[in-house]
Amino acid sequence: MSSSNTNTKKTIAFLGASGGVGLAALTRAMAAGHTCIALCRTPSKLTDRFPEAQYPNLKVVQGNAHDVVAVARCLFSPSPSTSNSPVAKPVDMVMSSIGGQFQFAKMTIDDPHVCENGMKTLLSAIDKVRRDHAAALGEKQWRPRIIVVSTCGISKAGRDFPLATLPIYKFMLKVPHVDKLAMESLLTGAAAEKDYSYSIVRPSLLTDPAVPDRKIRVGVDEKPEVGYGISRDDTGRWIFENLLGIEGAYENRVVTITW
Ligand SMILES: NC(=O)c1ccc[n+]([C@@H]2O[C@H](COP(=O)([O-])OP(=O)(O)OC[C@H]3O[C@@H](n4cnc5c(N)ncnc54)[C@H](OP(=O)(O)O)[C@@H]3O)[C@@H](O)[C@H]2O)c1
Repeated sequence: MSSSNTNTKKTIAFLGASGGVGLAALTRAMAAGHTCIALCRTPSKLTDRFPEAQYPNLKVVQGNAHDVVAVARCLFSPSPSTSNSPVAKPVDMVMSSIGGQFQFAKMTIDDPHVCENGMKTLLSAIDKVRRDHAAALGEKQWRPRIIVVSTCGISKAGRDFPLATLPIYKFMLKVPHVDKLAMESLLTGAAAEKDYSYSIVRPSLLTDPAVPDRKIRVGVDEKPEVGYGISRDDTGRWIFENLLGIEGAYENRVVTITW
């Protein structure tokens, strides 16, 4: 799909952009001219790569994705001074690709509730912004769009991974998958009440490095595409080309992507 999102410049908050998928999406969103605000526990991971002088449309905020105040700072923030929209305003979109580090010795991740707690925090931060900036937001409800990276292997509609990978999905990745299910449940369960829209992206197993020109197959809701893997770079690229900055695309849908 072409980069049709280059026509409408948006303000996008990124949670987890120092990692593989997030970085791939952030890099392209900046190049397309979107105003980007990235929350990062270690800002130098982004500022070393993207110095402010060369990337005026990126603002890096130091903080943890489990800290409501830090996340709220990314959702309603003065944009970088040289951006298209230098006044303080709420973001149009949030992309979250946070995740834990796998620990093979224990077959778990370093933070078993990283995504669940991240989603709780994000939803609380949206509430906080609405409370704290009620006057600036005015009567028109701020309706952010939330894009999250989840995973294959948790679909209730049936098997969305090849049979040969069943031991990986059902045993090895059990802990992160329980976490992803909890995250998705929080996100989908509160959408109507809290008035936001979402897209859930479920990639198959993530690989490095990038492989050029691989076709990406896309399944929606109960009709997932089944595949072995996809690179982190292609996952971030697909999100950029199909979701970031594009209003209404895959709104309130679960999207499976794989090579
Ligand atoms: N591995 C797979 O095969 C697979 C398959 C499907 C889906 N997924 C999921 O896809 C998502 C993206 O994967 P990835 O490989 O791009 O992840 P990654 O490279 O491990 O990056 C994870 C990101 O999350 C950030 N993060 C974690 N906890 C945080 C916290 N409390 N506060 C702020 N930032 C935090 C990390 O920041 P720091 O730089 O500070 O650590 C990093 O930027 C993850 O949720 C992953 O579980 C993985």
